[in-house]
Amino acid sequence: MGWFQLFFYVNKSYSWPPKEESMLVLGIESTCDETAAAVVRDGHEILSNVIASQTDLHQKYGGVFPELACRRHVDVMIDVIDQALKEAGIKPEEIDLVAAARGPGLIGAIMIGLNAAKALALGWKKPFLGIHHVEAHLYASMIGRKEQLRFPGIGVVLSGGHTLLLHIEDVGSYQLIGTTLDDAIGEAFDKVGSLLGLNYPAGPLIEKLAKEGDPNRYTLPLPKLKNPYHFSYSGLKTHVLYLVKGQSAKKSSPVLISEEEKKHVAASFQEIAFRQICKRTKEAIEKFDCKALYFGGGVTCNQRLREMFESQNLSIDLFWPEKELCLDNAAMIAALSVVKFQKNPTSDPFDLAAMPRIPF
Ligand code: KG4
Ligand code: ZN
Repeated sequence: MGWFQLFFYVNKSYSWPPKEESMLVLGIESTCDETAAAVVRDGHEILSNVIASQTDLHQKYGGVFPELACRRHVDVMIDVIDQALKEAGIKPEEIDLVAAARGPGLIGAIMIGLNAAKALALGWKKPFLGIHHVEAHLYASMIGRKEQLRFPGIGVVLSGGHTLLLHIEDVGSYQLIGTTLDDAIGEAFDKVGSLLGLNYPAGPLIEKLAKEGDPNRYTLPLPKLKNPYHFSYSGLKTHVLYLVKGQSAKKSSPVLISEEEKKHVAASFQEIAFRQICKRTKEAIEKFDCKALYFGGGVTCNQRLREMFESQNLSIDLFWPEKELCLDNAAMIAALSVVKFQKNPTSDPFDLAAMPRIPF
């Protein structure tokens, strides 16, 4: 389907307000370099979860090139939505709600998905909701587990754009406990990966290298911060730079270590970064009233991170997102939108703005 067909696709009359007993939601996600659409029934049954990744486009830049990301979103958005509906076996007239990520992320990229959602909702005469991307990452760990959820809890968001510790009173009610003062953890993985000559995104590649390396080979330091719940990765990154390319080297300097040594660097970096996250989280559990731990974001795919948390034998339940829901996806957007809609069954205004930053 092309943009010119959108008019025919949406120009039909459907009912308002939507039925609540069995809700079908079309979710859309485009905050960074994944164009995604999903159809979710009743907030937990994922009928389709289509993700068009752009990593091929950004790899040679070592990170996301915003202008190129926007153009690719425009090129593939309608096909991705079409595919999500087809895979779910759902016709547009059966959709009850259209939801899209409204931020945080790259403003131009967000606008593509948000405007597509608004156009479809307007044409289909369905409600539309703008969803907080990071809240949706966290909610990914709760999908289909309504009966097991315990509050208050601690949220741990580890992604390419965020490193957050949150106190969760309930879904939708959060208090920021700690955050990063510079790079996000996923960004640190990507930058360290780039120093080791790995492709973007380097997180999964570092995890793979680290499996064959000795995590205790190098003692990499982390800064002591005044706030016991904050994070910082710039010093650690500089240490890795000197380790890999020599003292006082620049990013562009040649790599001086062997392929074998790279495995030890990857393992040592991953270990120290995750050890600090475990420590900070444990301190937050002890300080704040907390009955469960909820994880979200691309870095929580990492098996070593999961092992480190599981081996702490914490006395509270740990909620991990399914692996396919850790990275950016639209199923988490659609699922969270149902909770929001049930609490307040109204549409967001169609002039709802895309927001590159949304504080918690
Ligand atoms: O949540 P996400 O898809 O996007 C943001 O909202 O930022 O996270 C992407 C980040 C990238 O930085 C990527 O390198 C990292 O998650 N990542 C990982 C792993 N898989 C993805 N980091 C460590 N280990 C992994 N297995
Ligand atoms: Zn994300």
